[in-house]
Amino acid sequence: MTQLPGLLDTEAIRKDFPILDRQVHDGHKLVYLDNAATSQKPRQVLDALSEYYERYNANVHRGVHVLAEEATALYEGARDKVAEFINAPSRDEVIFTKNASESLNLVANMLGWADDPYRVDHETEIVITEMEHHSNIVPWQLLAQRTGAKLRWFGLTDDGRLDLSNIDEVITEKTKIVSFVLVSNILGTQNPVEAIVRRAQEVGALVCVDASQAAPHMPLDVQALQADFVAFTGHKMCGPTGIGVLWGRQELLEDLPPFLGGGEMIETVSMHSSTYAPAPHKFEAGTPPIAQAVGLGAAIDYLNSIGMDKILAHEHALTEYAVGRLLEVPDLRIIGPTTAEERGAAISFTLGDIHPHDVGQVLDEQGIAVRVGHHCARPVCLRYGIPATTRASFYLYSTPAEIDALVDGLEHVRNFFG
Ligand code: ALA
Repeated sequence: MTQLPGLLDTEAIRKDFPILDRQVHDGHKLVYLDNAATSQKPRQVLDALSEYYERYNANVHRGVHVLAEEATALYEGARDKVAEFINAPSRDEVIFTKNASESLNLVANMLGWADDPYRVDHETEIVITEMEHHSNIVPWQLLAQRTGAKLRWFGLTDDGRLDLSNIDEVITEKTKIVSFVLVSNILGTQNPVEAIVRRAQEVGALVCVDASQAAPHMPLDVQALQADFVAFTGHKMCGPTGIGVLWGRQELLEDLPPFLGGGEMIETVSMHSSTYAPAPHKFEAGTPPIAQAVGLGAAIDYLNSIGMDKILAHEHALTEYAVGRLLEVPDLRIIGPTTAEERGAAISFTLGDIHPHDVGQVLDEQGIAVRVGHHCARPVCLRYGIPATTRASFYLYSTPAEIDALVDGLEHVRNFFG
């Protein structure tokens, strides 16, 4: 068995994930390499979810009965866990949403209204990058359409990194918000936050960071990032689907208007107008994803019990090994950085002129689960002149043996297609 320095004890960890024992397609052992799409869930999270429904289920913030109080304590306890996990200065800065897309849409919908204190309007600009997931492009296009603001972006270098050579021309006095991904879901690139934040701060622009592919894989410290907003999702970090997070700086959350109106986000309501509850409740209209938040709290406990530094080191070792092994495959082209430095554990590639959907299908027949397509980051495919990629992505339970299985599987794909 290949041993690499920095690897976690995956034999022990894998026992926590019942699904990893599955066999698919007539007895093939499941090799799950689609972690950037969603992670698997440990028993600890599954147990927390069923325990919540078996013992505590009630609506939160509304009841005087025992279950309502217990459910509220669990839900708000999950907020405390998230706040600590990301080193938020205050728990009130943690807003629960449905997913990272909703978190990013929420930011875009706080801005650009008639009395917007941050003045996103037809004279100003919004800056993103060409490597964004659609959920960090479309909300800004919608905001630009609504306000007349101009949308600008950083392009990409040939090796899959952000081209910041023109940073002073892209981020200017007109820029009101810069929104960018910390780790790309398609290229794997880890972006240089400090340089972007420094320039944004120079011109007084807000900074929003999409940390969806970072929060599950590395220590995340929102104070160190110095951003104004940070978005991520629970289901990629061992939590359930249906729960996302938006962290925002307290003053901003006080200044900015809510997006969704409804129960529990108000202070008072009359037939003519309403006033709003303080953040985070101002941004959490209606019954929130209670069980999902509790599940996310359990996922955070689980990740903390392993250690985010150790998870990062594990994935770094695996990524280095995988890049090396993949580059041995004839005709394989990695789309994105070909070193393990400043990159995450998602690796996209093409294989000669075999369509990625065919690659994915033949791998699947061997039990190997990867994602194929444009990965909701179509501008990246356009930039590199390809219709799609095959993407393998790793997590704390991934092993070198699974990477070997992928490489063998790709040999099989090549033979299959002659
Ligand atoms: N954003 C997820 C991915 O990259 C769904 O696959």
